[in-house]
Amino acid sequence: MDPLMPTEPRYARRADGMKASEIRELLKVLNRPGIISFGGGIPDPVLFPADEAKEAYRAILTDPVQMACGLQYSVSEGFEPLREWIAQHMGLLGVPCKPDNIVITSGSQQALEFLGKLFLTEGDTAIVEAPTYLGALQAFSAYEPHYDTITPKHGNRTPQSYVEAAAKQGGSVKFLYVVPDFANPSGETLTRAQREGLLDLAGELDAPIFEDTAYSALRFEGETVPCIQAIDVARHGGDINRSRVIYCGTFSKTLTPGLRIGWVCAAEPIVRRVVLIKQASDLNTSNINQMVMHRLAERTYTTQVEKARALYRPRRDAMHEALLKHMPAGVTWTKPEGGLFIWLTLPPHFNGSKLLKRAVEEFNVAFVPGSAFFAGGAGANTIRLSYSLPTEAQIADGVARLGKLLAS
Ligand SMILES: Cc1ncc(COP(=O)(O)O)c(C=O)c1O
Repeated sequence: MDPLMPTEPRYARRADGMKASEIRELLKVLNRPGIISFGGGIPDPVLFPADEAKEAYRAILTDPVQMACGLQYSVSEGFEPLREWIAQHMGLLGVPCKPDNIVITSGSQQALEFLGKLFLTEGDTAIVEAPTYLGALQAFSAYEPHYDTITPKHGNRTPQSYVEAAAKQGGSVKFLYVVPDFANPSGETLTRAQREGLLDLAGELDAPIFEDTAYSALRFEGETVPCIQAIDVARHGGDINRSRVIYCGTFSKTLTPGLRIGWVCAAEPIVRRVVLIKQASDLNTSNINQMVMHRLAERTYTTQVEKARALYRPRRDAMHEALLKHMPAGVTWTKPEGGLFIWLTLPPHFNGSKLLKRAVEEFNVAFVPGSAFFAGGAGANTIRLSYSLPTEAQIADGVARLGKLLAS
């Protein structure tokens, strides 16, 4: 050790598992001129409803009553009219519910972190897909769980085998976590039968399902599949308070991630628990941002979703076409019906992390190595491409560069 370096203080053991994410490290090089990035899965700012947001802030801040509300502390559950809007929105998705079934969070990321806190005791098992959303793994891992894997596309293991595996780790199965539509990172969507299968498994395990719907509104084509919560609520006679599904929603990919507004929709007793955690964590999500989001949702939700679909669909097509043209034999990829991601599987001898270094240094193109999305460190020969930011011409150019990299 360098004797001039101060020693670090003694952190909690959970800090050992907190590592800088490869995605965040990668984002640091993305401003370099000439680089084409398929890295971060962030919305294109051309979609942001800036004029409407400006008008909403102005209207709130120039009205003394609204100003006093917007700039004040607020209840931890969230701004009541926004919870009413969301309850109505959930009804349209097949989940009849009341504002008491909704709690507002600072993005759905905060919901995942709260749910990890609510359910996991060290040594418990969280069941996730492989690959799955890296941010969820980061949120859950602070609570030191073991991970087990569901494979909804290929049939899951027996409930008994999950119970036994969890017991061997000294805990029990606490929840299943899935991104059912146009998943991050795979781009894949679960069929209705696969969703039913997950509900059956969760029933046998007597465990909740966390349903992360970050991309669900961005469907370009194909039949909408009901959300898992809607299927479960229908199984329980339309009563959300008997559902085992905890729905995590967000406005980040439809309206804007900048206001940091997401929500949890669940049975009332679960919502009350999440509210207690919210209170202890940050008291409330920015009230003025909730008020602005309420106005944006009321006035622009449908048109914004249509605009987003119209922008991203041709980019998805451009990427798929370019992959057909430039990928060498042995490379396969998903063709998502929506969302922001295509997932590539390269021949087994390729390593996504090593490729990224060369991609950035020699070819000025960036992506996310797939291994970051596996709890157990598999997936070395996979990579995630996002088509949300580059133009169609840049996508064609960037995929051609990737093709040259793989051929070299
Ligand atoms: C699958 C998934 N869930 C949740 C989030 C978190 O989004 P937010 O906190 O902005 O709602 C993301 C962000 O990229 C995501 O990809």
